[in-house]
Amino acid sequence: MTDDLLARHRAVLPSWMPLYYAEPIELVSGSGRRVTDAQGRSYLDFFGGVLTNMIGYDIPEIREAVERQLATGVVHTSTLYLIRQQVELAEKIAQRSGIPDARVFFTNSGTEANEAALLVATNHRRSHQILAVRNSYHGRSYAAMGVTGNRNWSASGLNPLQVAWLHSGDRVRGLLSRLSDDEQVDAAVEDLREVLATQTAGDVAALIAEPIQGVGGFVHPPDGLFAGWKKVLDEHGILFIADEVQTGWGRTGEHFWGYQAHGVTPDLLTFAKGIGNGFALAGVVGRAEVLESVPAISFSTFGGNPISTAAGNAVLDYLLEHDLQANAARVGAILADGLRSAVGGLDCVAEVRGKGLMLGVEFVRPGTSEPDPALTNRVFEAARDGGLLAGKGGLYGNVLRMGPPLTLTEEEAREGLAILVDAIRTTAGAAA
Ligand SMILES: Cc1ncc(COP(=O)(O)O)c(C=O)c1O
Repeated sequence: MTDDLLARHRAVLPSWMPLYYAEPIELVSGSGRRVTDAQGRSYLDFFGGVLTNMIGYDIPEIREAVERQLATGVVHTSTLYLIRQQVELAEKIAQRSGIPDARVFFTNSGTEANEAALLVATNHRRSHQILAVRNSYHGRSYAAMGVTGNRNWSASGLNPLQVAWLHSGDRVRGLLSRLSDDEQVDAAVEDLREVLATQTAGDVAALIAEPIQGVGGFVHPPDGLFAGWKKVLDEHGILFIADEVQTGWGRTGEHFWGYQAHGVTPDLLTFAKGIGNGFALAGVVGRAEVLESVPAISFSTFGGNPISTAAGNAVLDYLLEHDLQANAARVGAILADGLRSAVGGLDCVAEVRGKGLMLGVEFVRPGTSEPDPALTNRVFEAARDGGLLAGKGGLYGNVLRMGPPLTLTEEEAREGLAILVDAIRTTAGAAA
């Protein structure tokens, strides 16, 4: 049956939209952190539809909130009318964002959220010059691709922006990788000054950065780098956009937003993925003075519609009531410590990195920093054979990514850890 669906998929959907696994799977049901495929095989889900099923599957509080909205008969009204759910969610997000006098604009995807952030930043500053980070991913529209520093994820060179590139904080390879944390921060800040002086006309609109790079394989700079950068940005009036599409809502455990690890406050923050727990919900939150910088009507038909914002309110309430940030810290530590002690020392593992429930393992050819995407893929398939869904990422496709629902229990973390360790050891052993 799945084979038939795969053939039909291939016949009618574009090939540049990748499917995971040599034998792709169809997930037909889910509960908590577990999903079942069309063959009846059950998996512990450590990728959550790319960090999007943030609370998990079949959560009564979320289902009931959506069903209540459906029962009113109003699925959609457009933003030409007042939407109570949208106003309520905007109030909560504005208050939680850490951004003073905040306004929120809702969209349907992370791409559109970043597009909106870039629109207001470029209008506010009357400049189309942007600073972005190497190895980043911000989405699939022209502007979002334009600030994406990963050739595999940037399908067109057409760019409405003029972009200059900063260092990512990669610890495995690259010019700054051998430096200590403090040295790396100093070097990256010095590099920013040089980039501003040599590659821009000075009046740059904004810097856009992910606190932890999602698609980039969970690469993140030392804590404090954004503060070093922001000091320089402030000297020029350049805005700072934090792309929190993957890092938001407590996933990093230590903070509610990824940017907070750096002791700065962004001018604009974009969110998506987890806040809808699968319903299409995203947006940008920013200082009123900046977010109001739109000189014409800018309207999203579906953005923040009654169904998605009903889900969003239920997701955020659930997250806060159950203190899932604390859970991400506690359960994430079990996974991180377990991975570091069991596989961190293997020759083929360059790094175990990440924060909270956002953890990656980078694979290289033993004893080198040469990426090993083939080994990564074998580990990835072996984990699935063992009953665990994970993700892949990194500039070279050589990072195994774990971003389970934030409701993951300690028992499930240990179960998943055992499957992962087994998959890595067996595959690495077979390769040796
Ligand atoms: C950090 C980041 N920003 C933006 C996006 C784009 O979001 P979407 O796929 O919802 O357009 C993604 C998607 O993976 C992302 O990881």
